[in-house]
Formats: sequence, C-alpha cells, structure tokens
Amino acid sequence: MTGRISTGGTTGRISVDGGRLRSDLEELARISGPGPGVSRTSFSAADAQARAWFLDRCAQAGLSVVVDGIGNMFVSAPSSSSSSSSSDQPYAGDGTPAVWSGSHIDSVPRGGRFDGALGALAALECVRRLHEEKVPLRRPVRAVVYSDEEGNYRHLLGSSALARGFTRAELEALTGRDGDRFVDTFVAAGWDLDRATQTKVDPRVIHSTVELHIEQGPQLERLGHQIGVVTGIVGLGGGSITFHGRADHAGTTPLAARKDALVAAGALVVQLPGVARSVSDRAVATVGIITVEPGSANVVAETARLTVDFRDPHQARLAELGRAITAAARAVAARYGVGVDVDFEPAIPPCQLDEGVQAVIAEAAAGRGLVASSLFSGAGHDSQNMAALAPTGMIFVPSIGGSSHCPDEDTAWDAVENGANVLLDTVTALART
Ligand code: HGY
Ligand code: MN
Ligand code: MN
Repeated sequence: MTGRISTGGTTGRISVDGGRLRSDLEELARISGPGPGVSRTSFSAADAQARAWFLDRCAQAGLSVVVDGIGNMFVSAPSSSSSSSSSDQPYAGDGTPAVWSGSHIDSVPRGGRFDGALGALAALECVRRLHEEKVPLRRPVRAVVYSDEEGNYRHLLGSSALARGFTRAELEALTGRDGDRFVDTFVAAGWDLDRATQTKVDPRVIHSTVELHIEQGPQLERLGHQIGVVTGIVGLGGGSITFHGRADHAGTTPLAARKDALVAAGALVVQLPGVARSVSDRAVATVGIITVEPGSANVVAETARLTVDFRDPHQARLAELGRAITAAARAVAARYGVGVDVDFEPAIPPCQLDEGVQAVIAEAAAGRGLVASSLFSGAGHDSQNMAALAPTGMIFVPSIGGSSHCPDEDTAWDAVENGANVLLDTVTALART
C-alpha cells in the first residue's frame, strides 16, 4: 500500500489514497444483513445504512450529493454541484457534460465486499482526490451509485431508470425475491413513488462514463495481468417460469394420477444446461430460486415458480436462447400434464464499449506501468445501460480464484489501488478533453 502519492512534476499526476480506499471498503463491508459474506439487498435496512454511511463520507470530504427519484446518488465537488440544476435533472449542474464514474453498493445475498462497492468507492475517491488537489478540469467528474444493480426488483434498475424511465404500472409490477412488492418496500423505506417515475436522463449532460469493477472471473489472474480493458458486456435475459399442477395428498395419490408442478420444474432445471449449449458455446442459463406452493412436505406441489437468468454475448442468440427455454418449458409441461406460464422481462442487450474510452484506459494502465489485456464481461453491469447514453468504458482488476457472488470473493489490496489509479487517470483525461 503506497498511500497518497502526488507525482507532481511535469505531468502533475495525482494518485488515490490507497489506505483510505481500503478503509472505506472495509467499513462498508461491515454494513450487512445476517449470514456469511455481505448481504445488502436494495432498499433493505442494510442498504439504507450503507446509503447513510456513503452520504456521510461525501459530507466529510466536502462533496455535494444529489439523489434522484429511484435512489441513484450523484457526487460532485461543490463547484460542479447541483446549485443551478433543474429538479428533473438534479445532477446536471450548469449543463456542462460531465464524466460519470460509478457502480453499485447493493449486493446479492451472501455476496462479497468488492462487487459494486469497489467501483462506487473508487469513484468517490477519485472525486475526492480531484477536489483535494483542485485539479483543473474542463468538465466535472461525478461519482455515481446506481440503485438495485443486482436486481432484487429488476436487474440494473437504477441505470435502466436513467436510460428509459419506468411508468408507475411498471414499478407496481416489480417484486423482490422475498415476494415483497417493490412499491411497498420503496415507500416504506421513505422514498417517493411519483419521483421514481421521473428519472430519465437527458444524455446531453453526460460526456462519458467509466466503471471500475472486479473481473469476477479467472482470466486476469491466469494471464498474470493487472488491468482488464473491457471490450463489451453480455446480453441479459430472464424472469420467471411457473408450472401449475394440482395439490394432492402425498401418501394417497398414486404417482400416475399426480400433476406435480415441482417434478416438471425439476425436469426443466436439469435440461437447461443442454438447452444453453444447443444455442451457443457462450450461452448460459441459471435457476437461482424455486418457490413451491403450498409448500408442505406432505402435499404434492400445486405450483412451482423458477427464476431464470440467461445470457449470451450476441443479441440474436440471446433471443434464440429465450425462445429455446420457452419451448423446453412448454414441452416439459406437456410431458407432465401441468400448465406453464413464461414471464420474461425485456432483455438487456449485449453491448460493445467505446473504443476511444478503451484507448484512454489502456494508456492510463501503461502510464502506471501496469500490464493490461482486453476482456469481455460475462457479468452484467450498469455500464451496458450507460453505453446507450454516452461513450462508456470499464476497467477490471483481478479476482482471486475468479470467485464472485459469494463470501470468498477477494481482490488484493494492491490490485484495488492499481485499478483506482487507472480510474483516476482515465476520468482525469476524459475531463480534460
Ligand atoms: O448478475 C450480474 O451479472 C451482475 O452481477 N449484476
Ligand atoms: Mn454482482
Ligand atoms: Mn457488480
């Protein structure tokens, strides 16, 4: 850990305070629901505590924060703050297109301490360092924290709200993994539903966006490289499949007479890897939650609802994968004599990241003496929504053992600092163009 270094001299380059960033990441990781690892579901009590902690860190640094209707948070140095902004574009400042950098602070249940938190807190550290050193820039740099990236209610909720906005009816249809309605949890947590429908951003206020993230896979570690320059992000599809059978007595109903929704659901789960392979060698499909009703050990399952997450790097194959999964679900339902409903949300398309921003990241890595390689992201990120609004890039740092979405998720502290310094140099270069 090198701590805060100002190289000064001809380049005037500043560096992040690696010790401060580490301590921020460690503090945030302690804000969690129960269980191993980090559990910060969006709009939960832990999420509210994390948001309060984040706002406090910004206030301590003398930074201004505005929060939009869906809970996205925008951090700026006071000179580029919201004082002259209109209420429907609260982060617009004086209208000069800004460089945005951020990620998320919500997590999956029993996740790790770096997924999202790294990019959000490194962006805060960049804005803080630029403010502390009064670095002259042509345009503001804003740190952004996007709401519900992990999609307890909807994958990439906050950035989707910026890119397309949500109607009240769309928000009313969202439910969380615990069966709660988004609107109930959101309002109970003190948020205003009317404002949540007024989030669509005018892309002219964004110059470019950059997100730092852990790789969440093994490639950088295997290569022995320090920085990943992300070329593109996988397309995401998903939603739920519900099988409708008939509740019956578990002891007296002969096997041949049953309409067991869970047997059908199980048959589909077993088939899914083959369905994905039949579409492409990059396609994946995952069932992470099965909900059975009425849910009794001695009652044949009446309904079984599966969440399905499916992905492919190519738009046409993503659509084909959705159709193949739907066909497989219908075939299984017919075989077991049960009904089926397939309810997939509109897919989030795969994207290519901006080549100009990739070049700035590569140059920043080289300027720090770091070895970089180009990578494609199999994980979803808010950057894929932002890429539709402005030139967007992503920086990856190595994940130890490639683990993520689990308590074992880890990244070395020197890798964290490397990534944050590449982010700082990248946003600085973009803000000077
Ligand atoms: O699910 C994902 O790919 C991301 O971590 N939200
Ligand atoms: Mn994640
Ligand atoms: Mn993430």
